[in-house]
Amino acid sequence: MTSPEHLDLPPLIGAAGRVRLPGSKSISNRLLLLAALAEGSTRIDGLLDSDDTRVMLDALRTLGVALQRGDDGSCTVHGCGGALPVRRADLFLGNAGTALRPLTAALALAGGDWQVRGVPRMHERPIGDLVDALRGIGCAIDYLGNAGYPPLAIGRGAPRLDAPLRVRGDVSSQFLSALLLALPLLGSDRDVAIDVVGELISRPYVALTLRLLERFGVHVRNAHWQRFVIPAGSRYRTPGRIAVEGDASSASYFLAAGVLGAGNGAAVRVEGVDAHSIQGDVAFARVLEQLGADIDWGDGWIEARGLRAGVAALAGGDIDCVAIPDAAMTLAITALFAAAPTRLLGIGSWRVKETDRIAAMATELAKLGATVDAGDDWLRVHPLAAADWRSASVATYDDHRMAMCFSLASFGPVDIRIEDPGCVAKTFPGYFDAFARIARPVPVIAIDGPTASGKGTLAARVAAALGFHALDSGALYRACALLALRRGIALDDAGALAALAATLPLRCDGARLLLSGEDVGAAIRAEDVGQAASRLAALPAVRTALLALQRQQRRAPGLVADGRDMGTVVFPDAGLKVFLAAGVRARAERRYKQLISQGISTTLDAVLNDLEQRDARDTQRSVAALRPAPDALHLDNSELDVEQTVLRVLQWWRQCAAR
Ligand code: C5P
Repeated sequence: MTSPEHLDLPPLIGAAGRVRLPGSKSISNRLLLLAALAEGSTRIDGLLDSDDTRVMLDALRTLGVALQRGDDGSCTVHGCGGALPVRRADLFLGNAGTALRPLTAALALAGGDWQVRGVPRMHERPIGDLVDALRGIGCAIDYLGNAGYPPLAIGRGAPRLDAPLRVRGDVSSQFLSALLLALPLLGSDRDVAIDVVGELISRPYVALTLRLLERFGVHVRNAHWQRFVIPAGSRYRTPGRIAVEGDASSASYFLAAGVLGAGNGAAVRVEGVDAHSIQGDVAFARVLEQLGADIDWGDGWIEARGLRAGVAALAGGDIDCVAIPDAAMTLAITALFAAAPTRLLGIGSWRVKETDRIAAMATELAKLGATVDAGDDWLRVHPLAAADWRSASVATYDDHRMAMCFSLASFGPVDIRIEDPGCVAKTFPGYFDAFARIARPVPVIAIDGPTASGKGTLAARVAAALGFHALDSGALYRACALLALRRGIALDDAGALAALAATLPLRCDGARLLLSGEDVGAAIRAEDVGQAASRLAALPAVRTALLALQRQQRRAPGLVADGRDMGTVVFPDAGLKVFLAAGVRARAERRYKQLISQGISTTLDAVLNDLEQRDARDTQRSVAALRPAPDALHLDNSELDVEQTVLRVLQWWRQCAAR
């Protein structure tokens, strides 16, 4: 399956619904390894199905561990009791840190002839602290590329446990977790101690490791997060059956969506985690509470219901993120909507994740118009006023969390494009579908139809009745045509017209259309401008150039847009699509009366002839030809007056809203 190059997210007006979370990545990969090393078979329920877990499953199969996937998302692992059946292999571990680190430790202690490698970014993520700790007890590990980084060659060392292992804890807690997971393999008949050098970060992840070890019969003594002792004779024994909790880091995006977009009775509920979760990132919901969010906790779920009564916006200030390094990324986006600048502290580990997340976050937030300051291990994000948001194409750096976080920027008043959205497959392949199910985009009513069918009047009246904004998309083509005529650009000079459209100094200011600051509302209505507009509207490059300007008009509380391709191209997700039709003679008569009443002299035949030409061009052009969207409702207003037409559309809209 190929992934799209980008995904366009419309601005959102709210959020509501329930999300069943996929299994936790951290738990899934730890359990797979524990079950593989344990004695006996383990059935794991709710295992995450993603790139990172697939990497672990493939590696375990390569090592000779027997695994069976059930149709119900379960996985049964037949443990090898510490004796890996295969002793020589080359393992490719993608960009999965939760696979590469613990497997490195396990293979080094098991002894054999191994090579472990990953994608280029994995080879930039440090592993020296783990290698040093393992070499310190006599394991044989060599760097195959740069010292301190994968790929690695792991050989047959002679591990001695007469002195405590020492491992640094201030860069990544995964090194300590890797050792804790692997050391019981040795089945040592004396206590094995690990001393942590430096201040241990991400402690909840170590706590998670310890909890899972307990489930497999190994009870590690934790002495103030500085020394960990694996008791003599520890051996992994299967608990038989074990369930994976929903992923608490993945929950953060939906909880944030519930804070930014729910309230007034609406809520976003995540199912699969609750207050008793063993994952540190559930603390993210507590942080939201402290910032003013209305969070509710139940058995197996957490719910976000907007802000607490009396709170106008999330609070800013300093937030210590040492315990929630992954979910903290989500706070960088909610900070855009806060009342004051937010400083995320203790996020130095972001620098060595899937990408340098501090740099990536700062760069992409700036694209949205935000002011951001960053240091070695902190990031400050200033709130973004509604008028300062810029529509942006967000790069995601092959980092699933960048893609997921920035989906929340669609609560700002602009379109957001997410590049390479498929990168979410690392931990949450169905993320954007789940997000779309709880997201409530700013509603759009699309009204398409031929020239002089009365779309403009209908759209303006429906918009006024609903308090929505109105977009007369034809006016944009007309403004472009007006400028082309003024500059003397030939209407068959496709290149010059495309360049003109791409740099059109046009701004929609409420009902006014400003061309280089001049209100051109009247000038664009001239017949020659309409004819010229119809010709340049047939040029694909002109249409592409005007697309962003049209989509930018989608603003809360809603938009009524009229044109030729509103329902098919510009707003294909419109909640209601109306295709307005009327016979060409009825339209010509209407247009004729209108022109005469404006004191413009013409004949009915001339108007009829003009309409027929425009109809032909609009319906026959190669791009965005005038045709009803498959899901459009047809409305022939030949026999209806304006009032009746407006009422019909409002009635349809109420029916849509009730659905
Ligand atoms: O609707 P109106 O007559 O103002 O539009 C001017 C011209 O712009 C039309 O003749 C049509 O060819 C073109 N147009 C378009 N797509 C739209 C709106 C208008 O091609 N969405």
